[in-house]
Amino acid sequence: MKRIGIIGAMELEVETLKAQMQIKNIVKKASMEFHEGILNNREVVIVRSGVGKVNAGICVQILADLFHVTHIINTGVAGSLNAAIDIGDVVVSTDALYHDMDATIFGYQPGEVPQLGKREFAADPDLVNLAETSCQEANPDIHVFTGRVVSGDQFISDQTVKEKLISLFSGSCTEMEGAAIAHAATLNEIPFVIIRAISDKADNSAEMDYPAFEKKAAQDCAKLVARMLQNI
Ligand code: ADE
Repeated sequence: MKRIGIIGAMELEVETLKAQMQIKNIVKKASMEFHEGILNNREVVIVRSGVGKVNAGICVQILADLFHVTHIINTGVAGSLNAAIDIGDVVVSTDALYHDMDATIFGYQPGEVPQLGKREFAADPDLVNLAETSCQEANPDIHVFTGRVVSGDQFISDQTVKEKLISLFSGSCTEMEGAAIAHAATLNEIPFVIIRAISDKADNSAEMDYPAFEKKAAQDCAKLVARMLQNI
């Protein structure tokens, strides 16, 4: 039986989904509330992880150990790292990596996790395809891109920092949880995909754009995830 874990870092990113689901049980663990129930005829566990990599990693481990989820979807907002990807567009992850993992002094690549033999964590190709087609079905007006999600414990709002991330990692968007979710899901052998709607351009305008576009982007993304559930 499939059971889909859906993670959003902030309440804004999961409230639409929680409002639509039929909640059967709420389990509190590690200061997170795991909502078990049914959404679009699918068994789901929906949870707000909190912001940042540690919260995201803990959240995945609980979804694996306590709820035995078979798939993980991360929904939320992100800053664009590609001039072609605009505010309101959606990025579906091909893979994810950490921009703030740096053991280059020992010969590792920027972003590579020492001794793990990995820099990027690949999303499940079937979930990526499904996310892409569901996005197009749910809202043909929203442009959908596939690409790399670049994560770190940093809100990126500086053109110079943004350019460095682009040149080092060739990412499509940046946010603060995706790579940790990808990492923890990979270690637990759970297929995952990250779906992010763009709220800002991760440059000097991000401080203004983010609060203006966060809500709509988060809601659009959640709608796409709900649609995707029908097809899993
Ligand atoms: N989430 C949304 N926009 C972001 C940005 N610019 N940096 C990090 N996380 C984000």
